[in-house]
Amino acid sequence: YVLDRVSREREILKSIPENGDKSRVVKTLNSALFKKLNEINSLLSLNMELDELTEAEAILNNLPGMIERLLRARRVLVLMIREDRYLVADGERNGNKVVLPIEGSVFVDIDERQGHLLLDVGDHDPITGSALKTQMLIVPITVGDVERIGYLVVADRVESYHFGEDEIRLLKVLLKKVSMRLENNALYEVTYNHLINTLKSLVLTIEARDEYTKNHSERVTNIALEIAKEMNCRQEEIDAIRFGGYLHDIGKIGVKDMILLKPARLTDSEFEEIKKHPVIGYNIISPLGFFPLEQQLIRHHHERFDGRGYPDGLSGEDIPLIARILAVADTYDSMTSTRPYRKGLGHDVAVEEIKRCAGSQFDPQVADAFFRTPTGKGVKRDAS
Ligand SMILES: [Fe+2]
Repeated sequence: YVLDRVSREREILKSIPENGDKSRVVKTLNSALFKKLNEINSLLSLNMELDELTEAEAILNNLPGMIERLLRARRVLVLMIREDRYLVADGERNGNKVVLPIEGSVFVDIDERQGHLLLDVGDHDPITGSALKTQMLIVPITVGDVERIGYLVVADRVESYHFGEDEIRLLKVLLKKVSMRLENNALYEVTYNHLINTLKSLVLTIEARDEYTKNHSERVTNIALEIAKEMNCRQEEIDAIRFGGYLHDIGKIGVKDMILLKPARLTDSEFEEIKKHPVIGYNIISPLGFFPLEQQLIRHHHERFDGRGYPDGLSGEDIPLIARILAVADTYDSMTSTRPYRKGLGHDVAVEEIKRCAGSQFDPQVADAFFRTPTGKGVKRDAS
């Protein structure tokens, strides 16, 4: 578009007589070109900023600030459609939550084809109800050009009372990008959830093979989450446990039933087979493009603090924290669960055993944190 315009302007320039007021024309064209370049620059930088944001919520939260800069406007509001009936704005920016019924408002009148609404000075301000002192531009926010999820309201420009064609176009270009990003996110989420459900049913399949480990993964995940919260873990670590914890034994799908379900103690060679499950699980998960934290959790949940665990013999803080946490949760649940060859141990015995192994098998800080959780204190007794 811009290249077109530049070459067009060149043609015009050539056609102007040499001795005419060429310098004045050049000046005008230059300033127009300068304005265009500025627009492109700010669009480019906003584009990059948008690419940095992964969550839909972050995109919508950052949108007002971006548009304030792009259009030099003091009043920018994102109104989201709720229950098909209301428009809601979060109060962070303007102090109070704005809730408007959609029906009967100007918002429903926005023409699909035109794609925006421009209210004039003196018009009724749909948000405050008073008369507008500057023009107000309203553009729908959509997901993938189809579904309207809200509106962007811009008013009070620093340099002008009104919006020109250029500003309207700029805003639409940016919102088009936002719309595509939101659609991508939604698609990603659907695919991601689908994959998670597939993996979860895989875990259920494994657990269904063995009645005694039923719901083991779920209980381990819950205990590990208790510990992670007690240790004030970062949100991404908690998320990794929430998902990865569920899948931590997924590699057992590669272990023969004969060994996995053996109703007696395992021989050394059988135990070597079982010991492969963290790497098998890691190999299942890695090509799916999951976050490295989940991969680490699955691979390292049988490492020991003293370095005598498997598969990599990591020790101390070389073992990822979430894996050290899962190790305690896993052991507690295994000890308190009834197995084919032995009855589950009581809570107090299991706690004593973890205390005894703190510093050798377990990270002592993780063990301590576990003792402060409801499960560790024996308040929650759902282990069977
Ligand atoms: Fe395991």
